[in-house]
Amino acid sequence: MSFEQALRCRECGREYPLAPIFSCEYCFGPLEVAYDYDGIRAAVTRDSIERGPTSIWRYEALLPCDPAYKVDIGTGFTPLIKADRLAKAIGLDTLWIKNDTTNPTWSFKDRVVSVAIARARQFGFTAMACASTGNLANSVSAHAAAAGMEAYVFIPQDLEEGKVVGSAVYSPNLVMVDGNYDDVNRLCTELAYAHPWAFVNINVRPFYAEGSRTLAYEVAEQLGWRTPQRVVAPMASGSLFTKIYKGFQELHKVGLIDEPIVHMSGAQPEGCSPIATAFANHTLNFVPQKPNTIARSLAIGNPADGYYALKVMEETEGSAEMASDDEIVAGVKLLAETEGIFAETAGGTTIACLQKLVASGAIRRDEETVAFITGGGLKTIEAVQGKLIEPLRVTPNMASFESAVAARDGALAAGGR
Ligand SMILES: Cc1ncc(COP(=O)(O)O)c(C=O)c1O
Ligand SMILES: [Zn+2]
Repeated sequence: MSFEQALRCRECGREYPLAPIFSCEYCFGPLEVAYDYDGIRAAVTRDSIERGPTSIWRYEALLPCDPAYKVDIGTGFTPLIKADRLAKAIGLDTLWIKNDTTNPTWSFKDRVVSVAIARARQFGFTAMACASTGNLANSVSAHAAAAGMEAYVFIPQDLEEGKVVGSAVYSPNLVMVDGNYDDVNRLCTELAYAHPWAFVNINVRPFYAEGSRTLAYEVAEQLGWRTPQRVVAPMASGSLFTKIYKGFQELHKVGLIDEPIVHMSGAQPEGCSPIATAFANHTLNFVPQKPNTIARSLAIGNPADGYYALKVMEETEGSAEMASDDEIVAGVKLLAETEGIFAETAGGTTIACLQKLVASGAIRRDEETVAFITGGGLKTIEAVQGKLIEPLRVTPNMASFESAVAARDGALAAGGR
């Protein structure tokens, strides 16, 4: 059962029927799904949720789609890991990692796409589409394949091989655009008016974006039905960041947790930091940028939800930080070496920014923090290749192994690492 009621303009509050539309006819503000929270409050309890499936569908009462239309390839209920070794390395008392690299296509995008495709099927669409920085393309391609639907997937030309292959393997209509993500998005916005496709992040964006709230639901449930004091999450369009906050607030609204007091901190790469730059300049109005960063998944120069992400920081006394390409690589390695989690560059950005926020005092040592690791590292190996230890090369006998180890240790002792 779904408790979605209408689409509501985030700016002027006008309401619209539930339809594949995304902006207000009066003020061009973005539309957002409105719910019957009293109905949800009456329908769900902590117990009823805990008895549900170990996927995002345990929160089906809070999702804007009829679950009868779901395409379930196992998205969600990902691990929340107590990261003691990483916490120690960066100077925090209590740190948790929400590890969304374990989703079916190895990123949090499976959450938003699971909701978008269910709603698209409910609307009667037979083809899915997206403008993507890579991960979304993988997820749309996989979900459409599992549903037996056509997919039109648009990506910029400079994507990592793992992201291209990670879409192509599902045989969508894969379109590589000679331009950056913002060019891809402009093209797709025109195409969305011309073709009867469910563009997950254009005409069904209000529904799609809601899928990210499940990250907050899971974290609160996994912490024993409470919120952390601090969240650090990556930002590209800023949607994920705003929806994590919305998710915590909603859990309180429907009576599942106490009133949340959570400070929201966002992470961006220096080479694409319109939101973090606006935060540093104490303004809610960002200036679009031309991205130049190894964190290609975060390379959105004109973020659709940038303003709302900045509002969340203001409201929660949160903050934003940015990390250089070298710091991002160091962040990927630090997370891998301390916690055994191999994240993509968005995760490196999050860890690097977390580290800088702790070092600057913007996050206090005693704040219980959750860092959201939103994508897996095997898709962005280019970022770390050539910057990691080299394997010892041996022939298959003991002597060769022992002498290779001795030579390595000798070089290390001589300071050659
Ligand atoms: C791995 C990963 N993390 C975070 C994000 C940021 O998402 P949003 O555009 O909602 O800010 C993206 C976006 O593509 C992503 O691929
Ligand atoms: Zn409006």
